[in-house]
Amino acid sequence: MTQTFSPQELGPRETYALLITCVIPRPIAWVSTCSPEGVPNLAPFSFFNAGGANPPSVMFSATNFRDGRPKDTLVNVRQTGEFVVNIVPYTLAERMNLTAHEYEYGLSEFEKAGLTPLASQQVRPPRVAESPIQMECRLFQIVPHGEGPVSANYVIGEVLCFHIAEYLLKDDKLVDNTISDHIGRLGESWYCRVVPEAMFWMPRP
Ligand SMILES: Cc1cc2nc3c(=O)[nH]c(=O)nc-3n(C[C@H](O)[C@H](O)[C@H](O)COP(=O)(O)O)c2cc1C
Repeated sequence: MTQTFSPQELGPRETYALLITCVIPRPIAWVSTCSPEGVPNLAPFSFFNAGGANPPSVMFSATNFRDGRPKDTLVNVRQTGEFVVNIVPYTLAERMNLTAHEYEYGLSEFEKAGLTPLASQQVRPPRVAESPIQMECRLFQIVPHGEGPVSANYVIGEVLCFHIAEYLLKDDKLVDNTISDHIGRLGESWYCRVVPEAMFWMPRP
């Protein structure tokens, strides 16, 4: 037996709550941007993934607020065309969570969460110095889908360069996922960790 739900009968909030318990685990893009005046902004986005490698591209979706307003990250990306995706290991989970607070526009989440802005090489938004994986990105396209509360704005970016902490790097220029301890987001307030006891190795046939 199954039960079937339509988004129309659930409404946007319940649909969102159901969707994020179904599509798991979601990686987290900790996205730094800046305003045209150079004021930095930082926020987590778990509607996030990579889409191709030639050129390398990533996407995240900044949904609209309940009143239909866009998030500061989206405002900044629209205006400047640049962002940095920082990856969140378990050790930074609580500070990442602090940066999800809705501070007024122009207030830096770096300061609020005690994080260090580090100058990027090819874009204006700073990186999160404490994050061991940082990807500098240039906007390719923004694709809005829907209108009103929790409607999507897919931000697609090209990765211009990767910065990887040496302790994570294996000889073959890959990140060692057995020690990276990335966190992922599940439904409600659940998260998961990428740790060896939850991993298995399966080569393609
Ligand atoms: C782990 C986590 C994942 C999140 N994922 C998203 C997401 O994918 N899309 C989104 O619009 N908001 C997401 N949020 C909420 C935003 O981070 C939050 O609205 C933030 O205040 C936006 O900041 P900004 O206005 O500075 O861009 C997430 C929050 C957390 C804690």
